[in-house]
Amino acid sequence: MQNILNKKWWHNKVAYEIYPKSFMDANGDGVGDLQGIISKLDYLKELGIDILWICPIYESPFVDQGYDIADYYKIADCFGSMDDFEQLIEETKKRDMYVIMDLVVNHCSDKHTWFTKALENPEGEYGKRFYFERGKDGKEPSNYRSYFGGSMWEPVPGYNDLYYYHAFAKEQPDLNWNNDEVVQAVYDMVNWWLAKGVAGFRIDAIINIKKDTSFPSYEPDGPDGLCETEKTVSGALSCKEGPSIGQMLSSLKEHTFARHDAFTVGEVFNLENGTLQEFIGRDGHFSTIFDFSLHLLTNCEHGWFAAHKITFRELRKTIFDSQLATQKIGFMANIIENHDEPRGLNIFLPEWIDREAGAKLLGTIMVMQHGIPFLYQGQEIGMTNMDFTTLNQYNDISTIDQYHQAIDRGFTDQEALSLCNTYSRDNARTVMQWDDTENAGFSTGTPWFHVNPNYKEINVKSQLEDACSILSYYRALIALRKNSIYENVFVYGMFEPAYEEYDNVLAFYRKSEQGGYALVVSNWGKSDVTITLTDEDKSLWLMLDSMSNDYRLSVALKNAIGQKEKKDQIILKPGQVCVYG
Ligand code: GLC
Repeated sequence: MQNILNKKWWHNKVAYEIYPKSFMDANGDGVGDLQGIISKLDYLKELGIDILWICPIYESPFVDQGYDIADYYKIADCFGSMDDFEQLIEETKKRDMYVIMDLVVNHCSDKHTWFTKALENPEGEYGKRFYFERGKDGKEPSNYRSYFGGSMWEPVPGYNDLYYYHAFAKEQPDLNWNNDEVVQAVYDMVNWWLAKGVAGFRIDAIINIKKDTSFPSYEPDGPDGLCETEKTVSGALSCKEGPSIGQMLSSLKEHTFARHDAFTVGEVFNLENGTLQEFIGRDGHFSTIFDFSLHLLTNCEHGWFAAHKITFRELRKTIFDSQLATQKIGFMANIIENHDEPRGLNIFLPEWIDREAGAKLLGTIMVMQHGIPFLYQGQEIGMTNMDFTTLNQYNDISTIDQYHQAIDRGFTDQEALSLCNTYSRDNARTVMQWDDTENAGFSTGTPWFHVNPNYKEINVKSQLEDACSILSYYRALIALRKNSIYENVFVYGMFEPAYEEYDNVLAFYRKSEQGGYALVVSNWGKSDVTITLTDEDKSLWLMLDSMSNDYRLSVALKNAIGQKEKKDQIILKPGQVCVYG
């Protein structure tokens, strides 16, 4: 009810994350670029995408692939120019599409002029824009482990016993949000991009901007004597000193996003119980935040050495719990994968489900849930993890750290490599597979990163030609979700678990307040399952079947040629998913 009364322009949209370095290279230098994105806008439009989230394209030394920004007002040369960016905005507008930028303001690059000036004089005006602290008892100010390993405190060159704070790499110094100049500069920069025509932002690591500036140490939790960042963050969030995270975020919104009716999606971990309303409710800080609940199941935030294979029961329970806890409050942003995660097909599926069926299965569960779907490039063709065999094949800073963390905890080289192979973010960063020509059609030059050798079988071109492909299925699925006739069901309908008594079945309803409803039902088991329908469900029509041999027909089925066929039971093969409505 609350959602319906409070309709927003972005509620019925479908979003797509672009990792620009690996998406499409138009100028043959081996690195994806803005002209490459422009050349694929029609492809994305036909897929049904409305909102494009573009990972950082700003000037950067790329220590953390652009999440270390040296100039917030400049496009990195490898991606093109500001003219290219303006052309992108224009071309998306022509197609009724929207661009959202990545807003990385917890930290900047150590090459940002603020930081280079701060290093020259840590006590001066620029030094106040970061966190410089004296050591304690001859050691770092506190025992925090950075997200990418090692201490969060880096000694300041040329000074004795002086350190600066970096939650991520040492080349990513944290900005001091208690400093008025920093805050005002962020507002100005956000408004500058909004005035340029961006529709909003994906907001990086935003919960980290609140610090407990007394920097207390916590109980160490590893052989390095440090404690994990989760403790630092929750300690900071509960600290009463200075403005609260809520005050900081509502002020950010008031001075920027709210003035432009911008769409914002927060990367928010560590949400405290009971605060979701404050984040995504009617007057929330953001339009939406990512639902990471499935990804957190692997326990990856404690290190990959502690990760475990997700079971079907956990997966179903997690999805149900999350949907039920959030849908009355607002829209979550639903993902299967992103640039920080391995490919969903390698993580979430039981081994007996075939890749194609599994891709359609996961896609349906994600797109049909309550919330706003965020696809990640390559998901729509079922791209998979890469087979990395040695450590030097990785580029990602955090993968290298995770390898060493595992070794420090007694894992063998082979075991540590196998963890990286499964969980590395680099799995998602191999280049987009456009066709079966050299370099998967991504570049005529030498790609900056690996091309997954399976591109000959998994690529956009062959799937566009195949009415049964994963890509054709995604098009049908998104078209169904976006069909305005069913908006009250698929966009605003409430989520309700169904047929939970079947062990290997994941099923749910989307129920509109106006009375219409849909049933999504899927089989995760090894053998066929027969589901006896409730009396009410017996008269539902089949709208989409992942094992049909032509999806173009299925979408039209209900409107055009659909016949109401009464059935008492449905039988699903392993990996099959159907939508009834
Ligand atoms: C976010 C980004 C990730 C990056 C980190 C530091 O988690 O998604 O890629 O490494 O922030 O900016």
